Amino acid sequence: MSATSATLEKTPDHVPAELVWDNSFDAFTAEGDDPFLAISRLHEGPGIIWATDASYGRPGWVLTRYDLISEAFVDHEHFSGEREGMPASMLGVNLRLNPIEIDPPAHHGHRRNLNPVFTPKAVNAMGDMVRETCLELIAKFEDKGECDFIEDFAVPFPTYIFLDLMDMPRDKADDFLQWEEDLMRSPEPARRAAAARSIFQYLEEHKKREMEHPTNELNRAITTAQFHDRPLTHIEMMGMYYVLYVGGLDTVYSTLGWIMRHLATHPDLQQRLRDNPDEIPAAVEEFARAFSVVITHRQVREDFTFHGVEMKAGEEVNLPISLADRDPAVFDNPHEVDIDRKPRHINFGTGVHTCLGIHLAKRELRIVVEEFLKRFRNIRIKPGETYRYHTGRTFGIDYLPLVWDEA
Ligand code: HEM
Repeated sequence: MSATSATLEKTPDHVPAELVWDNSFDAFTAEGDDPFLAISRLHEGPGIIWATDASYGRPGWVLTRYDLISEAFVDHEHFSGEREGMPASMLGVNLRLNPIEIDPPAHHGHRRNLNPVFTPKAVNAMGDMVRETCLELIAKFEDKGECDFIEDFAVPFPTYIFLDLMDMPRDKADDFLQWEEDLMRSPEPARRAAAARSIFQYLEEHKKREMEHPTNELNRAITTAQFHDRPLTHIEMMGMYYVLYVGGLDTVYSTLGWIMRHLATHPDLQQRLRDNPDEIPAAVEEFARAFSVVITHRQVREDFTFHGVEMKAGEEVNLPISLADRDPAVFDNPHEVDIDRKPRHINFGTGVHTCLGIHLAKRELRIVVEEFLKRFRNIRIKPGETYRYHTGRTFGIDYLPLVWDEA
């Protein structure tokens, strides 16, 4: 770590100079053509660093090792998830994403309302819907011999699934896709805020209809949810609708992009999985480890010392999950995708906030790999073209032109 004296002047006094990392986190992770390799260079430095521009120009701590990141996930006493989240700050309403922005012990009282709808058994029952959605999208480009995997598939796929889960009409898909594009990827803050408001408004209307006539189990779980022995407030229910919207879109689309880029550049693995589809679940686990797209964060609850480093109340602590899942102290050859390794990854977090949608997400990833490999041979990046990606709170591919041979 090396910092100029000008940087050190701006750094809080309690931060040791040797932990100051004077760099833009986003610019650093975007170096080269593989952000997972770029960010892994942080493994060469200390386990805890102070980044002068950790996210969106804000300084903060970054944990760079599997053990430290895992510990922060489960140590709610010191690391709180109760921050003013992205939608709340843009909407100007006191919306807490429910349950991700609620700490224990209250967290459990909220999460228990949603758990039954996302058990492995419940997700089994969603399998046909997920596969039909996958096939519906594939049908639109199947005969063309090529597609932009991102625009034609990875972006709409989780949106369609969200609409189906919520029992919202498919004709809202175009609006939702536009809102999502603006919310997640527009460089203009006003556009992002307008999208956040449109989504909130639509979810609010939907919630109102569902309160009168719940149409399925998920909507019923939200609209009749209880916290201990009282019903949820309007804004608590809106926090649930909103978290389900934001939780399952960017994450799924981003992960799918990296998986497909990997398959498109590794014909042997493609063929192995085509010949042995029963190995696809193990491959999905390894893809999840190798392509852990989320950088989540916590706030220091009160002044304390974490592994010898003094942290102050209110400071942001960034948890780049890919740094945990590619930690060389835990995984041999961490940058190699090895579907035989049975990794104990934390791609979906760990502790009480472990992803509610973990089984659904894995099912989605599995079905997409199955259906693409079944239908298309020799999937590859279109000759003469290359892929583009972004970094930030998630690492995602923006453009992935594919071609293939007919099966
Ligand atoms: C590949 C896809 C996905 C990835 C990589 C992913 C990743 C994560 C991670 C890392 C967390 C923990 C965040 C933290 O503790 O700060 C989380 C939580 C969560 N995820 Fe996912 N997720 C995915 C798909 C989904 C889907 C499909 C849904 C919707 C059904 C979903 C809903 C949620 C919710 C509601 C939480 C908060 C749980 C709680 O606070 O108790 N996720 N996810």
